[in-house]
Amino acid sequence: MALRIKAVLMSEDIPTFVRKFVKARMKSNVVNISRVSSGKRADTYFVDSKNKRYVLQFYGQNLRYQPSKRRYIYEKVRNNTKVLVPEVISIGKFRNLSYLIMEGIDGKTFADEENELKRKEKEYILETLGKYIAEFQNKIHIGKRFGWIEDTRIISQGNSNIGYLKSEVTRIVGWLNKTKNERQANLIRDYFSEKLGYLKKDCNPVLTWSEINKTNMLLQRGSSDDIKLFLLDPGSAKSAPKEIDLLAAESEFAPKDYAYIMKGYKSKNGKLDKKNLEIYRDYIMADTYSYKTMLKETEDKDYKLVKDYLVEKGML
Ligand SMILES: Nc1ncnc2c1ncn2[C@@H]1O[C@H](COP(=O)(O)OP(=O)(O)OP(=O)(O)O)[C@@H](O)[C@H]1O
Ligand SMILES: [Mg+2]
Repeated sequence: MALRIKAVLMSEDIPTFVRKFVKARMKSNVVNISRVSSGKRADTYFVDSKNKRYVLQFYGQNLRYQPSKRRYIYEKVRNNTKVLVPEVISIGKFRNLSYLIMEGIDGKTFADEENELKRKEKEYILETLGKYIAEFQNKIHIGKRFGWIEDTRIISQGNSNIGYLKSEVTRIVGWLNKTKNERQANLIRDYFSEKLGYLKKDCNPVLTWSEINKTNMLLQRGSSDDIKLFLLDPGSAKSAPKEIDLLAAESEFAPKDYAYIMKGYKSKNGKLDKKNLEIYRDYIMADTYSYKTMLKETEDKDYKLVKDYLVEKGML
C-alpha cells in the first residue's frame, strides 16, 4: 500500500506542494489525486481514498478568505434548507495558500451532462433549481439593514464597480473612526444610512447564490436513476433583494430553460411579480455588487454581518 501511495503521489500534473499537502494532512489511504480544474479562483483536486472521494481546493493570496466564506455559506444552507450542497470537512492554511476540503459528490456537472439529459430530466433539474432559489429567499434572510460586508481584496477582484462601492464604505467607516466630534459623527452616520437607506426601507435581503451557472450545478444519479441536484461554489454569494437569483439564473440559461426555473420557483413561492423583476433588473445592473452584498472579515478571519460588526464597534 505504501508503495502505491508513493507512486500516485508522484503522478505528473499534480504540483509538488499538493502532493506534499496530501501526504502530510490527508494521510489515510489516498490512492489517487487528480486535477479537476484550474480556473479563475480555485485550483481543485479530487483526492481519492479507497472508498471516499474528497475535494481539495487551494486559493491564492487574494482569495485567502474564500474557504471561510464558502464554509460559512455551505453550513448555513445545510442547516436551514433542503438545498443540497457538499459537506465541508476542514479549512486552513498551507504555506501561503488557503485550502478547503469537502466531501466529493459523485456526479457530473450540468454543463457536462446537458446534452445527455432526457428532456424530462432537464426540466426536473431546472424546476428544482427554481425551488432552491425560493428556499434561499424564504429561509435565509441575511439581515434587514446592511447585508454583509466582504473582504476588500475579494470583492475588488475583476470588477471595478465592486472596488468602487467597497471603497465608499471603507471611506465612510474611516471617517467615523477618525472623528472625535459627535455632531460630525452623526452627520456621517446620516450620510451612511442615506446611502444604505433603500435597504432599510425597501428590502429584506436574502441569500443569493449569485453564480448559478452550469459548472456550479452537480448532478448525482441514484440507483433508480433519480437525479439529485447539488449546488457548488458560493464564492460570490451575496445578500440581495428577493428575486435577484432568478435574474442571475436568467443570464445563464436559455429562455426556455428559464421557464422551468420559474415553474419551480412559483410552485414554492406561489407568486412571481413581474413588475418587481423589472425594477430589480435595473437595480441589479447598477448595484449588484454594492453595499448590500458584503460580508465583513473580522479579526478571527471569520465572516460576520456588517450590522453586528458596526454595532460592536459602537458605530451604530
Ligand atoms: N464537492 C464537490 N464534489 C465534486 N466535484 C466538485 C465539488 N466541488 C467542486 N467540484 C468540481 O470542481 C469544479 C470547480 O469547483 P468550484 O466551482 O467550487 O470552484 P470555482 O471557484 O468555480 O473554481 P474554478 O474557477 O476553477 O471553476 C466544479 O465545477 C466541479 O466540477
Ligand atoms: Mg465554479
